[in-house]
Amino acid sequence: MLKKILIFLLIVFVAIQFIRPARNRSGEASMDIRKKFPVSDSVDRILARACNDCHSNTTRYPWYAEVQPVNWWLSSHIKDGKRHLNLNTFLAQSAARQKKRMEDCVEQIDNGEMPLESYLWIHKEAALSEGDKVTLKNWFHEVIDSLKARYPADSLVLPKRKPAK
Ligand code: HEC
Repeated sequence: MLKKILIFLLIVFVAIQFIRPARNRSGEASMDIRKKFPVSDSVDRILARACNDCHSNTTRYPWYAEVQPVNWWLSSHIKDGKRHLNLNTFLAQSAARQKKRMEDCVEQIDNGEMPLESYLWIHKEAALSEGDKVTLKNWFHEVIDSLKARYPADSLVLPKRKPAK
């Protein structure tokens, strides 16, 4: 009986290897945040090691992403992360939304919620030092200030969401 179960599990494991989510590697960046808001090398390096894998159009995949269901799990994080914030398509959203995203970034750093904890188990290099946090937050604030300087105040207010029915 045990042998049959193991063989069955092996077959399932092999079969799921063929179901592969598309890779997040388009690199498409025509609406990149950096096109309007200058990024210093130090900020860019922090973003690259701690945020870009889930918040841009280019993910550096580890070898074990070849193995399912690991890649399904990674892909769901990437999809979810990009839905909340994609630095490569940042300028495609309204100024009000851009400002809100930057405020969310400050909040995530303050609350220690990003990068995701499960990511830090493996990507030790992505951990943010106190200095990194200050550097990142200063930049998020610079973007917010720059938005405030460029757009009239009322255009930076997000329209209220309709209450859910
Ligand atoms: C391993 C993938 C991953 C990494 C790395 C990562 N994030 Fe996220 N991020 C997510 C996911 C998934 C969500 C959406 C679910 C959630 O909020 O937990 C998210 C949500 C967010 C949000 C939106 C939160 C909200 O309130 O809507 C912001 C802002 C954010 N991340 C910023 C960052 C920043 C800044 C970094 C780098 C310091 C970073 N993330 C690194 C996966 C990641």
